[in-house]
Amino acid sequence: MPPWGCKPLYDTLAETMNVATHELRCIDCGARIAGSAVNSIFRCPTCNGLYDVIYPWSSIPNGDTPASDSKLPNASALRWLWQERRTSSLPEDQSGVWRFRDLLPIIDDPEKVVTLREGNTPLYDLPRCARIAGIDWLLAKHQGMNPTSSFKDTGMTAALSVAQERGFEWVACASTGNTSAAMAAYAARAGMRSIVFIPEGKIAWGKLSQSMDYGALTIQLKTDFDGCVNVLTDLVNRFPIMLLNSVNPYRLEGQKTPAFELLEQLEWQVPEHVIVPGGNLANSSALAKGFTEIHHLGLIHRMPKISIIQAEGANPLYRTIEENGGKELIPVKANTRASAIRIGNPASWKKALRALRTTGGWCEQVSEQEIALAKAEIGAEGVGCEPASAVTLAGLKKLVAQGKVGREERTVLILTGHTLKDSDYTINYHRDELFTDAENAQLSAAEKAEHAALRKPPIVLEADTNVVYRELESHMKLAQQV
Ligand code: F0G
Repeated sequence: MPPWGCKPLYDTLAETMNVATHELRCIDCGARIAGSAVNSIFRCPTCNGLYDVIYPWSSIPNGDTPASDSKLPNASALRWLWQERRTSSLPEDQSGVWRFRDLLPIIDDPEKVVTLREGNTPLYDLPRCARIAGIDWLLAKHQGMNPTSSFKDTGMTAALSVAQERGFEWVACASTGNTSAAMAAYAARAGMRSIVFIPEGKIAWGKLSQSMDYGALTIQLKTDFDGCVNVLTDLVNRFPIMLLNSVNPYRLEGQKTPAFELLEQLEWQVPEHVIVPGGNLANSSALAKGFTEIHHLGLIHRMPKISIIQAEGANPLYRTIEENGGKELIPVKANTRASAIRIGNPASWKKALRALRTTGGWCEQVSEQEIALAKAEIGAEGVGCEPASAVTLAGLKKLVAQGKVGREERTVLILTGHTLKDSDYTINYHRDELFTDAENAQLSAAEKAEHAALRKPPIVLEADTNVVYRELESHMKLAQQV
């Protein structure tokens, strides 16, 4: 009997949830294959398309494959069960991903679940950021509060569990730092070996230190993220390695669960907008898949609009939409200080485009200065995040200014990484050493004042009480004037 002590309901659900029923469906040509038949690069052999994981009850995000309603699970029973599992002491129930396992039946043997108790992340309100953006109600779902401090953990628990069940000993990824940290941790938990390919000198130290700490074989390539992906894609054809980049559709099954958790935290009230950063462009589509499935189950009656924000220097999706209406990807040579999203040739751009179209959201781009300001504003609320996550607030300001997000519309930012992931960036910002003089010269007086009000550089003083007293006195006077 399961620890939540309700055997009849559990058995009923187990019958509806036949675990061996998932398939992979090519997003381009629609071909379906058994999960176990997929090739090592997770691409359709006919058209090179990426795959979605589908179930007998699921609807496809672009709606072209109606699911069989007769196979739909009982939504209210699931809602109850997901809450009940929070009180259980089983590792898979304590996980904010596997708590929802009924909607991701991708492994047969529950013993193969590899978990660090990911998910169950907080939802914070950001009243000051809301005021700055010009709206009444702003929340942040902080995925940086996961075990390795980024949203990647929710995907890694899913894909690593599949890798373990399929008998892989080695897993590998190319990464701007967070995927590698998460993969290394979950592989270590499973007693598996991991290989990380990262662009030399282009990832934050905190992330690099994580993959070493968790025992990965860490290879720094003299190229960018896109170059790392190319090398790894060649290698997985030659070795028995499971590829754990986000082309692996099992990752996205885990990454869709924050959508369920968010709705649960909002008591199943649907926000009008969800705003995510865009890099390799998988997360936006994972969340869209989650909302679509929950909608299809009848637990919500409309979808939130998902908007994707890119850095100006790494804006292939933005350019693709602006310049050719989304027909052909326009890859770019990526360059941004938000190193997590320094990606010029995103693998999942078609899935991201689908997420925008099916939910009615937008793609925006934001400048380096706008990112830095937004990051400081989120930090000043006591929440904090890494630079790539801060694009969400910077993008929201633009969407509000363009009238795409209304003052009374409820908006949720997905903060993807913890502030400690890239402390160099934060320290440089506060010491006013992040930007060049030429970059600073482009700011208006008002923008300079906004930055100056947020900067909190450390002050070095003699250890003399009177000296410190005078310094504090001047700060307290200043604070009274504000
Ligand atoms: N935010 C952070 C903190 C990230 O690390 C990433 C991606 C993104 C946003 C973008 O998500 O790729 O799904 O659009 N980081 C990857 C990595 C690529 O290797 O860690 P996406």
